[in-house]
Amino acid sequence: MYFETLALRAFRCFESLDVEATPGVNVLLGDNAVGKSSVLEALFLLARGESFRQTGFSDRIRDGQSRFRVQAGIRDERNLGRSVSVEGAGNRTQLHLDAESNTTRLDLVQAIPLQLIDPNVHRLMTEGPRFRRRFLDWGVFHVEHSFFGSWQRFRRALKQRNRALRHAWPKKDVVAWDAILIREAEHLDACRRAHVDAIADALPQSIRDQFGHARIRFHYRPGWPVDENFDRALARTLDRDQKAGFTQVGPHRADLRIKLDQVQARNQVSRGQQKLLTTALLLAQARVMYGRRGLSPVLLVDDIAAELGQEYRDLLGKELAALGSQVFITFLDAASVPEPLAGGRRITLATSDNGATVI
Ligand SMILES: Nc1ncnc2c1ncn2[C@@H]1O[C@H](COP(=O)(O)OP(=O)(O)OP(=O)(O)O)[C@@H](O)[C@H]1O
Ligand SMILES: [Mg+2]
Repeated sequence: MYFETLALRAFRCFESLDVEATPGVNVLLGDNAVGKSSVLEALFLLARGESFRQTGFSDRIRDGQSRFRVQAGIRDERNLGRSVSVEGAGNRTQLHLDAESNTTRLDLVQAIPLQLIDPNVHRLMTEGPRFRRRFLDWGVFHVEHSFFGSWQRFRRALKQRNRALRHAWPKKDVVAWDAILIREAEHLDACRRAHVDAIADALPQSIRDQFGHARIRFHYRPGWPVDENFDRALARTLDRDQKAGFTQVGPHRADLRIKLDQVQARNQVSRGQQKLLTTALLLAQARVMYGRRGLSPVLLVDDIAAELGQEYRDLLGKELAALGSQVFITFLDAASVPEPLAGGRRITLATSDNGATVI
C-alpha cells in the first residue's frame, strides 16, 4: 500500500497543497514552521481517522476558514487505486473511503497500515503498558485476522463481568462470563506472543550491535502470572476482584518489557538509545507485517534529527531505506538527509502569501 497523491485544503497552515508521492522514500524539506509535520499529520489522519497531535479539533482548520479537507489517492496491495478523504467542520469529521459515506475509523486503519516515528517514539519504552499494548495490537490486527473479533468478544465479556463486580452482584453473575474470557484470552495471548517472537527475530542486527555484548530481550507479560494458566489466575483473584470492583488479571493488563540482559532497558540506556531501540522495534514490526501478510506499512518519520546524532541517523536511514516501504521523512535542509535516503523524492516546502506551498 502506498500514497500516490495527497491534497490538503484549508488544513493547518496550508490553503491548498498538492503533492505527488513516490512509493519509496519521500523527503519533506523546509525551514521550521513551513508545515512538514502538518503534512505527516494529514497522512496520519487519513490512516487512523484521528490526529497524533494533542490539539483541539478545530486547530486543524486553517485560521479564518470553516472546514478542512484532506484527500489522498492510494494504491493497495492488489494494485487497485482507491481514494480516501477526511473532512472536518466544527467538531465533526467525515471519513470517506472510495466515496463510501459510512466509512469508519476501523475501515481506514484496515486500508492504510501506517506508523509514525516522531520525537516521542521513546515513550513506547518509557510510558505505561497501554502504549506497548497499542503497538502490539496494531501489528497483530494486521497480521492475524481473527484477532479483532476475539478482542471485541473479550472486551464485551469483560465489561459485563466488571459491571457485575461493580454492583456487587452474586458470584454466579460474575463467573458467568469467565468461560468467554478464558477462551478469548487464550487466543489473544497466543497471537500477541507469536507477534513478539516474530518482532524479536526481525530486529535488525545492526541495531543489536549498538548495544555491545548486552543482549536485547523482549519479555512479554500476558496480564497474569506467567507460571499460571489464565483460568487459575481468574479463579484465584475472584475475591480480590470483588473487593476492587473490577477484573484485575487478563489480556487487558498485558505488557511488553524490553530488557538488556536482565535489566529493563528504560532504566539503563540513554534517550538516544531509547529512540534507536523503539524505532528499530517499529521497523522490525513492519518487516513482520511484510513477511506474514505482504503488507508494507507506510512510515512517517518526523524530526529524526532531534536527539539523534549522525551515527544513529545514518543507521536508521539505512534500515529505513532497506525496508522497501513507503517513507515520508522530514528534514530542515538537504544537508541533514542521511546518505541512504538521499536518493528519495524531495518535496520542498516554503511559506507564501497563501500559506505554505511546494516549491
Ligand atoms: N489552524 C491553523 N491555521 C494556520 N496555521 C496553523 C494552524 N495550525 C498550525 N498552524 C501553523 O502551521 C505552521 C506549520 O507547523 P508544522 O508543525 O507543520 O511545521 P514544521 O514544518 O513541522 O516545523 P518544525 O520544523 O519546527 O517542526 C506553524 O507555524 C503553525 O503555527
Ligand atoms: Mg515539525
